[in-house]
Amino acid sequence: MKMKVNIKHVKDFVNLKEHGLQDKITKIHNMLHSDIKPSDFLGWFDLPNQTNMEEINAIMKVADRIKNNSQVLVVIGIGGSYAGSKAGIEFLDKPFEKNGVEILYAGHNISGRYLKYLIDYLSDKDFSVNVISKSGTTTEPAIAFRILKKILVEKYGKNHKERIIATTDAKRGSLYTLAKNEGYDMFVIPDDVGGRFSVLTPVGLLPFAVKGYNILDMIEGAREIYNNSLNPDITKNDVYLYAAIRYLLYKSGKKIEMLVNYDPNLIFIAEWWKQLFGESEGKDLKGLFVASANFTTDLHSLGQYIQDGERHLFETVLKINKIDEDVIIEKEENDLDDLNYLAGKSLKYVNDKALEGTMLAHVSGNVPNILIELEDISEKTFGKMIYFFELACAMSAYLIDVDPFNQPGVETYKKNMFALLGKKGYENIL
Ligand code: PA5
Repeated sequence: MKMKVNIKHVKDFVNLKEHGLQDKITKIHNMLHSDIKPSDFLGWFDLPNQTNMEEINAIMKVADRIKNNSQVLVVIGIGGSYAGSKAGIEFLDKPFEKNGVEILYAGHNISGRYLKYLIDYLSDKDFSVNVISKSGTTTEPAIAFRILKKILVEKYGKNHKERIIATTDAKRGSLYTLAKNEGYDMFVIPDDVGGRFSVLTPVGLLPFAVKGYNILDMIEGAREIYNNSLNPDITKNDVYLYAAIRYLLYKSGKKIEMLVNYDPNLIFIAEWWKQLFGESEGKDLKGLFVASANFTTDLHSLGQYIQDGERHLFETVLKINKIDEDVIIEKEENDLDDLNYLAGKSLKYVNDKALEGTMLAHVSGNVPNILIELEDISEKTFGKMIYFFELACAMSAYLIDVDPFNQPGVETYKKNMFALLGKKGYENIL
């Protein structure tokens, strides 16, 4: 079983043999593989083949220390310095299980209420902080770090330093300077890996290791997708097939892609995916608007729109083929709830039929469906998913001629916020 793209419910909506499409994909593929890279931010591309065992061992060592001295690890970061670790942990964690170090997040919003309740929650617990910021200057995590650092100093005195780990640039930024001055443990986000492509660097790997997940398996999963993507032919390369289909659908007037899941452990994978594609493709007045839905929950809300509303969307459905636990519906003598027709069936069976039935319904309503099948819930599958979507994202952005690795639009809100807050240098913005 492999991670694979099933095009049964989309092939009638697109012409995969469209003149010039394969040539364009091959050209971008060759560019990605050439020595002269089209961007300075393609470090993630070869990352699965460059495992640095020294760094992995250092991550494991720090993770062991945190496991020994902390009940909670607070991961401080936003955007690419946050979404990937949360996605991985929510994908892999067993629901309701409370084993090991609890991972909580801060600096991904500016809600004082959220932070105050987090501080209250931490008051009777031993905790460490992993502050993550590539630029080292992002306001949201900087505020959260300043506040939590003070609490660590008050609680642990001079020993507080062993509870702070900074993941940042190798030589620049306020966080780098601060961490160097204070002597915190530091991990590097490589210069050529942008935030949203950084999950498989220490950004994600440290929190994953603290949770006890096998980070080498994740990297191996990513490497498998890299190796399976060496042939640019879309009949043999599922990553490019997915990118080609979404490109053709976009050109045909489908402006919204919804990533759909049928398992709650995929909810935050969708949040990470939205950040990856939204920030990479949405520029120069171009790009698919990326949204997500959690089925069957949202079939009782958004499902109405998807079936009958404006016809400007398509769905990409994530299906997990093998799950570790399941529940069987048993027969009841009196069958008062009329469910005996399901007796002996598992919930996985019912969920899969819901998926099949929904795909047929939506396709009949002119909503094309791409199905992406995942093997199981494991570290390796997580690594595959990450690399699959990263590569598909780069290919997709280049197909519509946008630079996948910048985010100029993000600056506008920051400038206004700084002006309103009276930050020096922003006086004349508004
Ligand atoms: O993908 C990106 O580059 C962004 O989403 C960044 O990750 C986000 O803005 C946080 O930046 P930084 O890590 O510099 O604090």
